[in-house]
Amino acid sequence: MIEINGNKYRLIGRGYSYCFYEEDGKLWHAYYGKDLGAYVCNCDEKGIQSKCSEFGEFGNGDYRLPSITACGGDTMVTDFRFEKSEILPRKPRIGMPQLRGDVETLAVTLRDEFLSLKLTLYYTPYEDGLVRSALIENEGKSGVRLFECASACFDFPCGEYDTIDLSGRANKERNFNREKAASGIKTVSSTRGITSHQHSPFFALLEHCATEEDGDAYGFNLIYSGNFEIKSEKDEFGQIRVVVGEKILHGGIELTAGERLFTPEVVSVYSDSGLGEMSRNFHRLYRKSLLPPRFADKIRPIVINSWESIIFDVSEENLFGFIDGAKGLGIDMVVLDDGWFGKRDNDDCSLGDWVVDKRKLPNGLTAIIDKCKASGMKFGLWFEPEMISPDSDLYRAHPDWALQTRGRDGVQFRNQWVLDFSRKEVVDYVFESMCKVLSENDIAYVKWDMNRSLTDVSNARIYHDYVLGVYSLYERLTVAFPELLIEGCAGGGGRFDGGILYYSPMIWTSDNTDAWSRAQIQYSTSLCYPLQAMSNHVSACPNIQTARNISFTTRGAVAKLGCMGYELHVSQISESEREEIRTQTAEYKKDAELILCGDLYRLRNPFSDGAFAEEVVSQDKSEIIVVYVREQGQPSKGGALPRLRLKGLCADWKYAIGEGGETRFGADLMSRGVEIDVGRGDYASVTLHLKRTE
Ligand code: DGJ
Repeated sequence: MIEINGNKYRLIGRGYSYCFYEEDGKLWHAYYGKDLGAYVCNCDEKGIQSKCSEFGEFGNGDYRLPSITACGGDTMVTDFRFEKSEILPRKPRIGMPQLRGDVETLAVTLRDEFLSLKLTLYYTPYEDGLVRSALIENEGKSGVRLFECASACFDFPCGEYDTIDLSGRANKERNFNREKAASGIKTVSSTRGITSHQHSPFFALLEHCATEEDGDAYGFNLIYSGNFEIKSEKDEFGQIRVVVGEKILHGGIELTAGERLFTPEVVSVYSDSGLGEMSRNFHRLYRKSLLPPRFADKIRPIVINSWESIIFDVSEENLFGFIDGAKGLGIDMVVLDDGWFGKRDNDDCSLGDWVVDKRKLPNGLTAIIDKCKASGMKFGLWFEPEMISPDSDLYRAHPDWALQTRGRDGVQFRNQWVLDFSRKEVVDYVFESMCKVLSENDIAYVKWDMNRSLTDVSNARIYHDYVLGVYSLYERLTVAFPELLIEGCAGGGGRFDGGILYYSPMIWTSDNTDAWSRAQIQYSTSLCYPLQAMSNHVSACPNIQTARNISFTTRGAVAKLGCMGYELHVSQISESEREEIRTQTAEYKKDAELILCGDLYRLRNPFSDGAFAEEVVSQDKSEIIVVYVREQGQPSKGGALPRLRLKGLCADWKYAIGEGGETRFGADLMSRGVEIDVGRGDYASVTLHLKRTE
C-alpha cells in the first residue's frame, strides 16, 4: 500500500513500513522497519552532513556515499530537486528482469536543472518486501557522463549493527560472512561482468544482537547478473547508509541527449524476527514474483547429469550404457553435459559451434533421445552460449565477435574467450544455432553454463549492454520454447542471482558436490534464495573436489534440500547403491512439494555449530521434514544426545515423529525439542518426518 500525505510518503507491506518526506525540494529519509501503524520519523533534524537522505548526491555537503554521480559541461556536482510524485497502477517495464506483477508503484521525479537530467525513483511495496529502482533521463542537448546511479539508498539511524555478505570462491561459493559493522566503508562488488563465485549481490544489515529468530534484519538483493556494488558506510555518529546498484566501471557511461537508463531493481526485505524470517520473506517473494510462473512451485525433474562421470568421453556407447544404468532408478531426465558438439574432446575448442559431433554421435542426438524415451526418461542438453573458442569455426568466420581490446591478444581462461553479447548480430547467431538444435530434437531441459568472467571489455557501456544481451537471449529462447526448463550455471554456482532466476527457476549451486561443503553453500545461499532455486546432485565418493567420503545417505539428505539430481556413473555403481537411489528418488517424489514450497527454518549453522540442520514446514504446518548432519563424530556412549528445538509448528497440534512413531504436541517439540541420534562417524545424518495426527 502507498500513502501520500502532503509532503510525506509511506510504503506499507506485511509487517514493515518505509517512510520519507520532501522538504525544500529535497527528499529525506524518515523510517524503515516494523510497521507502526502510522507515518513515523526517527531521524532527528540535523544538518546535511548527517541528515538521512533518500538518494545522496555528490558535492552538496553530504560527504557520505552518494547514490548518483554524473558529469556534464564543466561540473560534477548535481542538485536534483523535487518535481512531482504520482502513484502508478503498475511498475514501469525496465528492460531487464524484475519482480513480476502489476503492483502499485510510487514514482517520485526529481530534476537537475543545470544538467537537464531527470531522475525518477520508483518504490513498489510488495507484501514481503520493498522493491526500488531508478530511471535517469538526459533531457538536455548534450551528453552527460554517468559514473554512478544506484538503484536505491537506505539510511539507518545510529545503532549497533552487523553485516552479512556472501563472498566466496569457485567450489566454495557464498560463505556466511557476518561481522560487526565498523566505521568507514564496506564494499561488496563484482567487476567480473557477472555476479561471480567471489561476490554475491546480497547484503544484510542486522542488529548486532540479532539471531536466526530475533532482532531486526534487513536484506538487500540486486536483481542483476553483471557488475554490481553494494556499499555500506558507518559515519562518525554510528549511522549507516547502504547503497545498492549496478557498478558502472571506469570512465562511466555517456548518456547522449534524449537517452535514458533504468537501473536494475533492488529488493529489500525487513524482518523483526531475525535472519530466519528475513529469508522466508525473500523466499515467498521470489517464489511468487520472481521465478518463471510456469515452473515456480512445481516439482522439478530428478536429473542425472553426465559431467562428473563421462566428462568429455561422450560416445553413443557410453551414453547408452549411462541411460541403461539410469533406467528404473526413479530418475526423470538424462542431461548430456559438455562434449557433444563441434570437435570437443577437451576444453580447448569448439565453443560456438553448436552442431552435434557426428564422430561421437553418428546417429545424432535422436538415437540418444529415443533411448531415453524408451527408458522412460526425458532428455536435457548442455550449452555455453556466451563463449567462443579460438579453435572454432565460429571464430574463424567471425574473429571480431570475441570480446577483445583492439591491438591486444585477448585474455583466455579455460582456453576460451567471451562473445560480445552487446552486439545484436552475435546474440542472433547464438539464438539461431541453439534454436536449430532445440527444434530438431526433443529437448526438455537446457543447462546454460558460463565458465569464465569477462575481460578485454573496452568500456563501461559494453558491460551493461552485455548483460542486456544475455537477458535478450534468455527472453527469446523462453518465448520460442515455453516448456523448456533452463538450469542456470556458471562454472559451478558463479551466477546465482535474481536476474538469472527470472528465467532459470533453478541454478547449479556449486561444482563442489561434497555433502558437507554443500551443506555450507546451500545454507548461506538460502539466506536469500529459496530451496527450489538450488540444483543439488548426489555424486560419487571419494568426492571429485574434496576427496572426502560421505555416506550415500548423507549425500542424499543434503541434495534433497532443493532440486535433487544425480551426477555419477550409474552403470558402474553397486547394486546396493542402486537400491539407495531407488529409495531416495521415491522418497524425494513424496517430499518434493513440501521441500520446494514449504517454509525453511535453519536450525544449525554449519559454519559455526559443527552441525547442519534445516527444517522445512509445509504451508499448512501439518508436515515437517528435518535434515541434520553432524560434522565430526563424537564419543557418544553414555552421553546426552543433541536436541533440536523445532520451529514454526502449530503449538496445540499433535505431530507423529516418523511413520507410526512417538506423538508429541507442537509446543513440546518447539520447547523441549527432539533428540537426534546420528550414531557414530563423521558426517552422519538423520532425516526426520513429522506429520500432524488427530
Ligand atoms: C562447469 C559446470 O559447473 C560443470 O557442471 C560442467 O557443466 C562443466 N562446466 C562442463 O564444462
